[in-house]
Amino acid sequence: MFSKLSTRGIASRLSCMAQKSQPKETSPTNTSRSEAVFAREQKYGAHNYHPLPVALSRGEGVHVWDVEGKRYYDYLSAYSAVNQGHCHPKIIQALTEQSKKLALTSRAFYSDVLGEYEEYITKLFGYDKVLPMNTGVEGCETACKLARKWGYVKKQIPENKAKIIFARNNFWGRTLAAISASSDPSSYGGFGPYMPGFELIDYNNLEQLEKALQDPTVCAFMVEPIQGEAGVVVPDEGYLRKVRELCTKHNVLWIGDEVQTGLARTGRMLAVDYEEVRPDILILGKALSGGVYPVSAALCNDEVMLCIKPGEHGSTYGGNPLGCRVAIAALEVLQEERLAENAFKMGQLLRGELSKLPKEVVSVVRGKGLLNAIVINSKYDAWDVCLKLRDNGLLAKPTHGDIIRFAPPLVINEAQMLESIDIIKKTILNM
Ligand SMILES: Cc1ncc(COP(=O)(O)O)c(C=O)c1O
Repeated sequence: MFSKLSTRGIASRLSCMAQKSQPKETSPTNTSRSEAVFAREQKYGAHNYHPLPVALSRGEGVHVWDVEGKRYYDYLSAYSAVNQGHCHPKIIQALTEQSKKLALTSRAFYSDVLGEYEEYITKLFGYDKVLPMNTGVEGCETACKLARKWGYVKKQIPENKAKIIFARNNFWGRTLAAISASSDPSSYGGFGPYMPGFELIDYNNLEQLEKALQDPTVCAFMVEPIQGEAGVVVPDEGYLRKVRELCTKHNVLWIGDEVQTGLARTGRMLAVDYEEVRPDILILGKALSGGVYPVSAALCNDEVMLCIKPGEHGSTYGGNPLGCRVAIAALEVLQEERLAENAFKMGQLLRGELSKLPKEVVSVVRGKGLLNAIVINSKYDAWDVCLKLRDNGLLAKPTHGDIIRFAPPLVINEAQMLESIDIIKKTILNM
């Protein structure tokens, strides 16, 4: 829709939206700097996103500031990448110190940081080995390649016949493999042909899973413990335990996509910890760097990892010293500051208060820890709610039309939580 409008049209529409919904007491005196930011991105950038009209220039902890100096609570945390809070001093220190020493070697040579990181992360999560990559989607694609290779080498699946099962409404990125696994036409439409050997079943449906796993050419089932982009969809209690049981029974690898749910976000270090189970391949990303640098990882045991030989997979930047140093610091912060415990506690407080909101506006409140969503009644528009939240000093983004995710950085304290809940209440009660 945007691509059909002129740049000036867009800038004035965005500024109109900004001005229309700014209540007097919070209106910036001068929005021209924000407008300039919107207009330049619109003119020179691909139109592949539809951002909320707010132009940010600074972040610290749970807050971000726009170019006019207005402060907001960040209730998105860059889709759960900024679990440790914006510009965490320990992570920034690791980044700056390592950047002055050695940033990139490629994997053509050894570095004195990669092994230290590999030892640290594998011991922390209890896997034999790690394969380091950069973005979340690369971590997921790596897991798919590992599973296929294992399927041929160990499960003796006939060549080119390996299948991977995914859950409907999954989201793991935008590459051709990721959209081939998607059930969302706005993700895959117009980008075919698609990756063969990918099949879909319903999320949270164990009957369909058991049936699918009986096919001897299935090498893996990949699933998010809570579907994040789908709108924070929490499966029934016991689902993950049963997934583990069925995958073991049918000699199929369970791939846990914890790119969004992992690293303390849901109130445990991993969301699978709630059911005390462990996937065969664990994928981490986003908060693995605390939001300062793209770092992702696929972890598994030797039985799977050693199926891939030198030259069969990799990335120029994957496992670089800078990313490794940052990841160690990011993981240390999660533990030192007990962010899983804080997420659990603050999440209970948040959902408790949100569930008191009038049902005519907020029909559902759901989530775990600080990965939460509200569903806005169809009489109201979730985009408008987000604009009003912005005007009142809190940034959140709608997903799938009527769902708003509430996922602040995990360093949020009780006073900040109560202040941000007040902003949400005030906004919803004035809709
Ligand atoms: C569960 C899950 N997996 C994978 C990804 C892809 O991560 P990235 O955007 O870093 O490639 C996302 C991104 O939102 C995600 O939510």
